Amino acid sequence: MKKRIAILGGDGIGPDVTAEAQKALEAIAKISGHTFEFVPTIGGASAIDQCGDPMPDSTIQTCKECDAVLFGAFGDPKYDNDPNAKVRPEQGLLKIRKDLGLFANIRPIYTFPALLHRSPIKREIVENSDFVVVRELTGGMYFGMKGRTEDGKTAFDTNTYSTYEIERILKTAFDLAASRRKKVTVVDKANILATSRLWRETAIRISQDYPDIATDYMFVDNASMRIITTPRDFDVIVTENTFGDILTDEASVITGSIGKMPSASVGEFTSLYEPIHGSYPQAAGKNIANPMAAILSAAMLLETSFNMKEESALITSAVNSALANGIRTEDIAEGKAYSTTEVGDYIAERILGNK
Ligand code: IPM
Ligand code: MN
Repeated sequence: MKKRIAILGGDGIGPDVTAEAQKALEAIAKISGHTFEFVPTIGGASAIDQCGDPMPDSTIQTCKECDAVLFGAFGDPKYDNDPNAKVRPEQGLLKIRKDLGLFANIRPIYTFPALLHRSPIKREIVENSDFVVVRELTGGMYFGMKGRTEDGKTAFDTNTYSTYEIERILKTAFDLAASRRKKVTVVDKANILATSRLWRETAIRISQDYPDIATDYMFVDNASMRIITTPRDFDVIVTENTFGDILTDEASVITGSIGKMPSASVGEFTSLYEPIHGSYPQAAGKNIANPMAAILSAAMLLETSFNMKEESALITSAVNSALANGIRTEDIAEGKAYSTTEVGDYIAERILGNK
């Protein structure tokens, strides 16, 4: 197969880790006979510096013309403490989500045996946890009406959801559960929020189309406890944008990988793959960042967008070998710490069968 992949490294360590993910894909191309063409694009704080726009239309256009997008991270501390900044890197992320129609953010949570002892949760509780959070990504408070009253003393963010938006994300979750352990947990705050009541009403209706799937309903505050106390009980969690943002950060750290998990955003146009971690600007360009989440995002890309299951599994198993053999960056090293490029090289060599 011949595929075009847009590379959107972005800010901080984004370009460093994305380059290693590209290396893994190049190794796959060599052994499989597939051809991958990589198309560089810009976005985030670095694009604000270059052209004043965190998400230039040319980047959206390139992404639409490609078969998948490999994304690093957006964000720069110079914007964090400046509430008056006119343009912010995060706006670029929201724009690409909206323009590519990326309504479903798929965040798998699974444990790595070699990292389990680093989990903040007891091994007997977290061991063999394996669930997926399906987060709605283009609605809710992120995109609802927001602003201030005239006197500037009151602010508001509106949480809006249409039945159509809820239906399509629920279907994504139910279809995913059908290929897994057949359980969907709908997370909401239906005891308080009108949007949550519409979610629940819609979920009750949609669940009838999926008689093989067990559906349960959980308030978000309770779900945040259950992720810590009984993580193995979950298979697929589906929830709205803001709840999903918070729960996925929580869920990603229980595995012992300190948040180094891949994710996919899928929807109407090209899908986008990215590590859950941020831009970690202090480490940018120092060749110390952990590239594994980015490399695992490339594995997700192959499986989800190109249906290359075996090739995807090769990447995952190469990452597991690196972990098992102690080829790790300083954040998870036990003994010698390897650099970003050393870890990436090892994984690529492993894919090529040279290690
Ligand atoms: C994420 C991030 C983003 C979000 C930020 C950077 C806008 O936290 O992808 O989870 O809140 O969605
Ligand atoms: Mn987040």
